[in-house]
Amino acid sequence: MSKARPTGEVIEGDFLDVAATLPRGTAALAYIDPPFFSGRKRSNRGDGPSYDDRWPGGPAEYLSFLRRMLEAVKPLLTPNGVIALHLDWRAAHHGRLELERLFTPQGFVNEIIWSYKTGGLSKRWLGRKHDSIHVFAAGRDYTFNLIREKSYLAHRYGYSNVEIHEDEGGAYTWTALRDVWDIPALRGNQLEYAGYPTQKPLALLKRLVECFTRPGDLVLDPCCGSGTALVAAKLLGRSWLGVDAGKAAVGLALQRLSEAKL
Ligand SMILES: C[S@@+](CC[C@H](N)C(=O)[O-])C[C@H]1O[C@@H](n2cnc3c(N)ncnc32)[C@H](O)[C@@H]1O
Repeated sequence: MSKARPTGEVIEGDFLDVAATLPRGTAALAYIDPPFFSGRKRSNRGDGPSYDDRWPGGPAEYLSFLRRMLEAVKPLLTPNGVIALHLDWRAAHHGRLELERLFTPQGFVNEIIWSYKTGGLSKRWLGRKHDSIHVFAAGRDYTFNLIREKSYLAHRYGYSNVEIHEDEGGAYTWTALRDVWDIPALRGNQLEYAGYPTQKPLALLKRLVECFTRPGDLVLDPCCGSGTALVAAKLLGRSWLGVDAGKAAVGLALQRLSEAKL
């Protein structure tokens, strides 16, 4: 049965209020990229778009926010829907526990490590250069599309049963995608950069959408910011539903969606 033509909507508002008005049981994938508990107002330029990541009530206030967001997303998933919660070292461990509470430990699918190389050094610890995306499924029959990636070889010995290919990077084989994704962080001079603070790269979201949805499925992003996940959904023939509390974020998401051509 062919699904309806992909379409979408972006709503301005606090997701905790908006969620009750959204259709239940329809999202195949909910990607949540909330504030990370950085304790800062996030902005790239003084007069550019920004959002608040300050929590005067400390960890308890932040955790209550995170818990309420996840609880509001859950009923919007299909019975086999997948939730992907994107955080970093500040709160990823709390997020994982909240997801286990809501989806049971058996709902765990993957902890995807997004590995990147950005500036900034510390003399006291190793560079903190990865985020975690915790993926849990609401049911056992969730969508999972196996993607293959190139694995470059240091040498050619011992590969008698595998096909070896070659390109400008050297000799490689095709292997199943691992849960560590090396994808460059966005730079200000890239075409896709919309100037939004903590904007995620399209390549990251396209990969996530490709792994866990089928064409025509609905991708929900309750903290959509500049709309990266929504653009990925559109480009891959999925429907999209974005929500953000910020007016500028919604404006950017709508603009990027209108420019994204299938
Ligand atoms: C990390 S940013 C999302 C960035 C986005 N993934 C992108 O690539 O542009 C977090 C977003 O959550 C939004 N936000 C925070 N609290 C919210 C809430 N209660 N409801 C909806 N959006 C919220 C902020 O306005 C901000 O745009």
